[in-house]
Amino acid sequence: MSIGCIDLDTGAEAMGILDGKVCLVTGAGQGLGRAIALEMSKEGATTVLLERNPETLHAVAAEIAEEGGKVSSFALDVTDYEAYANAVRDIMVRHGRIDVLVNNAAINPATRSILDDTLEDWRRTIGINLEAVYMGSKLVAPHMVKQRSGRIIHIASIQGFASSGLCGSYNAAKGAIIAYTKSMAVELAPHNILVNSVAPGFMVTPMSFVNGVDETTTPEFVKWYIDKRKIPLGRSGMPEDVSGSVVFLASDYCRYMTGQLLVVDGGLMSTF
Ligand SMILES: NC(=O)c1ccc[n+]([C@@H]2O[C@H](COP(=O)([O-])OP(=O)(O)OC[C@H]3O[C@@H](n4cnc5c(N)ncnc54)[C@H](O)[C@@H]3O)[C@@H](O)[C@H]2O)c1
Repeated sequence: MSIGCIDLDTGAEAMGILDGKVCLVTGAGQGLGRAIALEMSKEGATTVLLERNPETLHAVAAEIAEEGGKVSSFALDVTDYEAYANAVRDIMVRHGRIDVLVNNAAINPATRSILDDTLEDWRRTIGINLEAVYMGSKLVAPHMVKQRSGRIIHIASIQGFASSGLCGSYNAAKGAIIAYTKSMAVELAPHNILVNSVAPGFMVTPMSFVNGVDETTTPEFVKWYIDKRKIPLGRSGMPEDVSGSVVFLASDYCRYMTGQLLVVDGGLMSTF
C-alpha cells in the first residue's frame, strides 16, 4: 500500500536531454534504480520514485533534491495493483503526465534448482519480476496514449537469454520481459510509445551480495571473469555504467528504435 507521496522541489532550473520530462522509476531505493533516477534528474527530468523500502526511498529523494532536482516519491510494493493504480492517479494529478516508465524493481532469490525450489518461490519471483512489469506498463500506457508519446524501458538481464543455472524463475521472468518488449513495441508504436529493454551483465549493487558476500569479488569470479577476461572489459559493471543507456532510451536521441534490447555487460555475451 502506498504510504503517501512527498514532493521535493528546489526550484532549480534544469538543463539536459530530459528537460521537462516526468520519469517514473521503480525500485529506485538503491542499485541501478537509484543510479537511473539520479542520472535522469541530472538530465533535467522530474523523477518519480517507486520503492517498497521507505528508508532508502526517502534517502534517494533527498539526494536528488540536494542536487537541485525535482522529485516525488511513493513507498509501495509494485505487486500491489491497487496501491500502484492510486500512485499513478496521484502522479497524474501532481505532474499532469508520465513521459517515461522504467520497470526496474526486481528480486534475485536464493539460488535453487527446479528439484528443490517451491511453487511459492516461483510465483513470488514471477510476481515481482514479470507481473509487476505488466501491471505498471498497463497502468501507465493509457496516459501515454492520450499524450501521444511515451517511453517504456524494462530492465531485463543477460540472464534472460543465458543462464548461470539455479535461478530458473529469475531467468524465466527476464526472458519473458525481452519477448514482451517486442509485443508491447508493436502494439504501442501507433501511439508514438517506444518500448525497449536493457540487459545488464554482472553489476556491483546490493543484489550482487549473496549471503553477505559480493559475488563479483569472490576468488572464483575474479579468476574467471576478470583475470581470464571472460568479461572482455575486465571488470564488473557499476550502476552508472547502465544508467546512461537508460537515459538514452528515454531521450529524444532515441526516436527510431523500439522493441530492442541493449546489452550492457562489458562484452561478456560477445565471447565464449
Ligand atoms: N545486480 C545485477 O548484477 C543485475 C544484473 C542484471 C540485471 N539486473 C536487474 O537490474 C534491476 C535492478 O537491480 P539491482 O541490482 O539494482 O537490485 P537491488 O536489489 O540492489 O535493488 C532493487 C530495488 O528494487 C526494490 N524492490 C524489489 N522488489 C520490490 C517491490 N515488490 N516493490 C517495490 N520495490 C521493490 C528493492 O527494495 C530495491 O531497492 C533489476 O531488474 C535486476 O534484475 C541486475
